[in-house]
Amino acid sequence: MRLILLGAPGAGKGTVAKMLTAMDGSVQISTGDILRGAVAAGTDLGKQAQDYMKRGDLVPDALILGIMEKRLQEPDCRKGFLLDGFPRTIPQAEALKQMLAKLGIKLDMAVNIDVPREVILDRLTTRRTCSNAKCQAIYNVKSNPPKQAGVCDKCGSPVVQREDETEAAISHRLDTYNEKTAPLVGFYEKEGMLLTVRATSSEAVIDAIKRKLAA
Ligand code: AP5
Repeated sequence: MRLILLGAPGAGKGTVAKMLTAMDGSVQISTGDILRGAVAAGTDLGKQAQDYMKRGDLVPDALILGIMEKRLQEPDCRKGFLLDGFPRTIPQAEALKQMLAKLGIKLDMAVNIDVPREVILDRLTTRRTCSNAKCQAIYNVKSNPPKQAGVCDKCGSPVVQREDETEAAISHRLDTYNEKTAPLVGFYEKEGMLLTVRATSSEAVIDAIKRKLAA
């Protein structure tokens, strides 16, 4: 399976990606997780990305493209991959097309997870994330809380609210999505590889993907 997962912040890209990778052994490549890991480790990349992320702005295309060019060539990608949070702009989508052509890789489809704004706002204010950069498990205080409040079920690290989860940053991330990322829906429609799923249940999104892959 080689998929791009599109959708606004909080649409459930990370949740769906984790469920799909558990099923077929493909890898989730989340540029957000990579960047948060770099910030936590205090690397040069993290230092460059930190302020953009905190504000809810996209980090510059050049930084992301450098990461992705290397990541897509790693051996685990041969089993298939789910791109979660990349591409995010038309220049990133054009660059990805070239990277994949060079590597001789064909994508199955781009999945646009379309969730109403009010659901998204509710999910993002109630999301919690494992603070361990290697884990980054996703929880929700309403729909999927950790067994012990504030403690990750998987690794025992503290479960926290992300730095870009303030009301101002969430609203700015949604505006940035509408301006910079939503045009990718049209881009992949023109490429003849778009699947739009209007569903709030992750299981329904996964069923739609499986049906399309089997068709
Ligand atoms: P990133 O981490 O990619 O954030 P995002 O796109 O804003 O996506 P989210 O992680 O917020 O949401 P999601 O759709 O994965 O939802 P989730 O599954 O967690 O990026 C962060 C930042 O990094 C960006 O702002 C930018 O600065 C930078 N960045 C990253 N990539 C970049 C790029 N390519 N170019 C430039 N900059 C980049 O679910 C949300 C919540 O809802 C959770 O609590 C979950 O439990 C709950 N939930 C999910 N599905 C369901 C469901 N079906 N029912 C009930 N609850 C659900």
